[in-house]
Amino acid sequence: MKKVYWIEGDGIGPEIWKVARPVLDAAMAHMSESLEWTELLAGEKALAATGELLPQATLKALENAEVAIKGPLGTPVGGGFRSLNVTLRQHFDLYACIRPVRWIEGTCSPVLHPERVNMVIFRENTEDVYAGIEYAAGSPEALKLGDFLRSEFGAKIDREAAIGIKPMTEKGSKRLVRRAVRYALAHGLPSVTLVHKGNIMKFTEGGFRTWGYEAAQEFGDAVILEKEATPENSRGKVIIRDRIADAMFQEALLHPEQHSVLASPNLNGDYLSDALAAQVGGLGMAPGVNMSDSLAIFEATHGTAPTAAGKDIANPCSLLLSGAMMLEHLGFADAARLVEQAVKSVIADKTVTPDLAAGMPGAQTVSCSEFGRLLLKKIPG
Ligand code: NAI
Repeated sequence: MKKVYWIEGDGIGPEIWKVARPVLDAAMAHMSESLEWTELLAGEKALAATGELLPQATLKALENAEVAIKGPLGTPVGGGFRSLNVTLRQHFDLYACIRPVRWIEGTCSPVLHPERVNMVIFRENTEDVYAGIEYAAGSPEALKLGDFLRSEFGAKIDREAAIGIKPMTEKGSKRLVRRAVRYALAHGLPSVTLVHKGNIMKFTEGGFRTWGYEAAQEFGDAVILEKEATPENSRGKVIIRDRIADAMFQEALLHPEQHSVLASPNLNGDYLSDALAAQVGGLGMAPGVNMSDSLAIFEATHGTAPTAAGKDIANPCSLLLSGAMMLEHLGFADAARLVEQAVKSVIADKTVTPDLAAGMPGAQTVSCSEFGRLLLKKIPG
């Protein structure tokens, strides 16, 4: 029995969990396996029970954990609250945000050929402009830093500028790219594309490109650079290439089938993850995980959907498909396939939650809980 920590989450969290957990348990039971679920408190539920949004007990349990899965956590706007998601990522050094993006037949897509999209994005999660080193325009910090940059380095920087810092390291870039290459090798995928903006930001994004190639070349004969690859010599190897971020957005729309694994710094990766998710039907369907070298926190990638909360209309697929990723990570690939098949099958039947039904001609709208019952019927008993 594998131990799994779970965080219910705010807003629609309780509703999507009510559907997701029985489906994951049914898939495991079919394989004569089971999960040992242990709840951890975070968000509003934690605040009500303990007076804290992220209790010490939760952090302590995760310190020794290997796997957790969470629903969405709300972030109060303004008022000095930090996002709980960002806090978890930084506290546990969850440096790789991994998002597979694949179309499920029947779901509404804004592109003509969503079936050509089949990519896994590896987004660096701890560095870049998201490091939180940022000073407001006119603040003493921004004025002092601006003065220093002007006087010491001759930097052309307006006295009225807000200033953010973009730290990116060899260590941070390499561990992310190694992980992406290992994933491509383990899954027999043909390429890893390093996505960066190194033509403009030469030392940060350009550093990511240089370090990324160095990390990829540590894999020796298992990889080959795109410029050296021919159909003959690249057979069975992972092709390593890079693309400037703006060109990558274009390629993702025009030739998505040419890319399988993408590795990217934080900001590009954030944009790419949501843009690609939109190509295959939106965030309500997209699974994801944030990983360090010892801990993986799987998560629904959407937010708390406050306007849908309490109405039994939320789409539980993102949490469910993240759950399937978790089962695969734990070594239960067959159970993961069962969950994915159940989702595909209920969507093919066109009995779906309102968000999906809106883009699906002839669909029958069902509640979140009814969607869950239909999923359970698809899992052999
Ligand atoms: P959101 O993802 O909650 O909602 C955006 C839109 O998508 C809304 O129309 C919502 O109703 C719809 N939606 C999202 N998930 C859905 C689902 N499963 N089924 C049906 N419809 C769904 O984003 P928003 O409104 O920007 O954020 C709300 C709160 O969630 C904020 O406090 C934000 O900080 C937090 N958030 C948390 C995330 C996480 O825990 N990973 C990620 C994104 C936002």
